[in-house]
Amino acid sequence: MKKAVILGGGGFIGSHLADELIKHDYEVTLFNRPHFDRKNVKHLTGQVAEIEGDFNNESDVERAIKGQPIVFHLVGTTSLQSSAENIVNDLDVNVLSSVRLLEKSIECGVKKIVFVSSGGTVYGPSVQIPIRENHPLNPICAYGLSKSAIEQHLCCNNYLQGLDYAVLRFANPYGKRQNTSRKQGAICTFLEKLYRNEPVEIWGDGSVVRDYVYISDAVKALRLAAECRTKEKTFNVGTGTGYSLNEIKAFIEKETGGRLKVMYKAPRSFDVPVNVLDVSLIREVLGWQSRTTLVEGIQKTWEWINSRSRDELACSK
Ligand SMILES: NC(=O)c1ccc[n+]([C@@H]2O[C@H](COP(=O)([O-])OP(=O)(O)OC[C@H]3O[C@@H](n4cnc5c(N)ncnc54)[C@H](O)[C@@H]3O)[C@@H](O)[C@H]2O)c1
Repeated sequence: MKKAVILGGGGFIGSHLADELIKHDYEVTLFNRPHFDRKNVKHLTGQVAEIEGDFNNESDVERAIKGQPIVFHLVGTTSLQSSAENIVNDLDVNVLSSVRLLEKSIECGVKKIVFVSSGGTVYGPSVQIPIRENHPLNPICAYGLSKSAIEQHLCCNNYLQGLDYAVLRFANPYGKRQNTSRKQGAICTFLEKLYRNEPVEIWGDGSVVRDYVYISDAVKALRLAAECRTKEKTFNVGTGTGYSLNEIKAFIEKETGGRLKVMYKAPRSFDVPVNVLDVSLIREVLGWQSRTTLVEGIQKTWEWINSRSRDELACSK
């Protein structure tokens, strides 16, 4: 039987990856903080093993990865906003702990690490659209800097120690179970605000363009990357098509029949104006491409927003 551990498996992306791996007959272990909110993985009870611990604690990480051939690294301790507010903490909890993970992985005989990086931030302001993987990395936010530093450590470690890895640079994943309370993820946040009849805040004039990829498509890319041994190690995961926030608002209003109230705020200095990923490499090498159209993705996410229980609604506030 195929086997893998998902560090951060109780989160938005991790819980969907667990669904995907179980569907493909993996024995799955989830690693999360003690007392983490179980709402994303309640449905997996009995189907996965679970280990609790702190990613910043070496012996906890060792317990999690021992005997695991594949490690999916999805622990994200900061957001764009919080990393900007505390750069030192961001480096500490993300970069240093990831480097320790690499050292422990060698010791424990891990065969491959699959890391979720950020296609939205590692490139910085782009000189070419759509952005290919060989575009220079010039992040303009601490979050993107940490992600690119971890990527470089994976690459260096592979060169020096031979530990195989894959880096998946996600565009903007969206869909059910996304946490809408973090001011992150425009589609889910807009739908949540519409559901609650509250205004949305848009930083800037709404012209910022992003590439939105539906979550169940995106996690397939992670599984394929784990399964294929390729000389290419870094892949964009997006759709290759960009939409402005104002276009997303219009799509949402059309699909739901609702009307979104918008408060336009000052732009944030660390948001790049346009980010659309070129996805030809992952299509050619891993045979992956996104299948869900924006309209289908909005419809599915809207159904989920409307189907949540009262308890879940209280948590997402
Ligand atoms: N969601 C996005 O838009 C997006 C886009 C690109 C990249 N990413 C990256 O993908 C990864 C997963 O993102 P997500 O949206 O699923 O995040 P999430 O916050 O929903 O999940 C993160 C998980 O990590 C766990 N975790 C956090 N700190 C921990 C610690 N110290 N010890 C043990 N577990 C800990 C949490 O319990 C949670 O289960 C992150 O690295 C994130 O930066 C996310």
